[in-house]
Amino acid sequence: MFNIIVKDTYDEVSLEAFKIMHEVMQKDSPVLGLATGSSPVGLYKYMIRDHKDNGTSYKNVVTFNLDEYIGIPKSHEQSYYTFMHDNLFNEIDVPEDNIHIPLGEGDDVEKNCLDYEEELQKYEIDLQVLGIGSDGHIAFNEPGTPFDSLTHIMELEEQTRKDNARFFDDDINQVPTHAITMGLASIMRAKKIIIIATGANKADAVYSMLKEDKNVACPASILQDHPDVTVLLDQEAASKL
Ligand code: F6R
Repeated sequence: MFNIIVKDTYDEVSLEAFKIMHEVMQKDSPVLGLATGSSPVGLYKYMIRDHKDNGTSYKNVVTFNLDEYIGIPKSHEQSYYTFMHDNLFNEIDVPEDNIHIPLGEGDDVEKNCLDYEEELQKYEIDLQVLGIGSDGHIAFNEPGTPFDSLTHIMELEEQTRKDNARFFDDDINQVPTHAITMGLASIMRAKKIIIIATGANKADAVYSMLKEDKNVACPASILQDHPDVTVLLDQEAASKL
């Protein structure tokens, strides 16, 4: 079931996301599902500010990230490992051992997928943070991904690589072609989900997710079956609703 909130600015959208995060953080040992990309950065800034100003502690928090590129090392400046440390983990007190990020390097990435899913299944995510791709992907589950998918390797769509080229000197050739990602069924296990979308280039994907029949052509449409999803939009992303 969707609870849709539309705000005027990205900052207001981020604050709404933070309010939900703050409520979940009142639990003893919250398990957080986290995303990279531009959409959650404002939320992470609010979390960092709250940690520094109010002492909200992440010592008992366990985190699982959605995805990671294959073909660039963990230490690469655009790896999601680096992104998460730069934008959140280095600024809060979450213990490194409690952080889980899929591993896109090594001899056997298929095995990394199985290992990640096995670890994930030991927990129940209290709050999963999502963005949405302009092609309707969530995590890196591109159109056509089966709804029952678990952590797997995904070949990225050209549109996704174009969208993400802004992080790679605007050069699509530098954007990895594959990623390791939590599957759609892995994401659906979360108790509560927030999905953040801002900007006109998300309007079509947001429309398909909310208004079209559930279909693998729009992976985010699987969220229609989830009991607790808050959709946080700005006016532009909501413009086709
Ligand atoms: C990132 C992720 C992706 C992004 C999506 C939107 O971990 O899973 O699904 O959420 O590509 O990216 P932004 O927020 O950069 O527009």
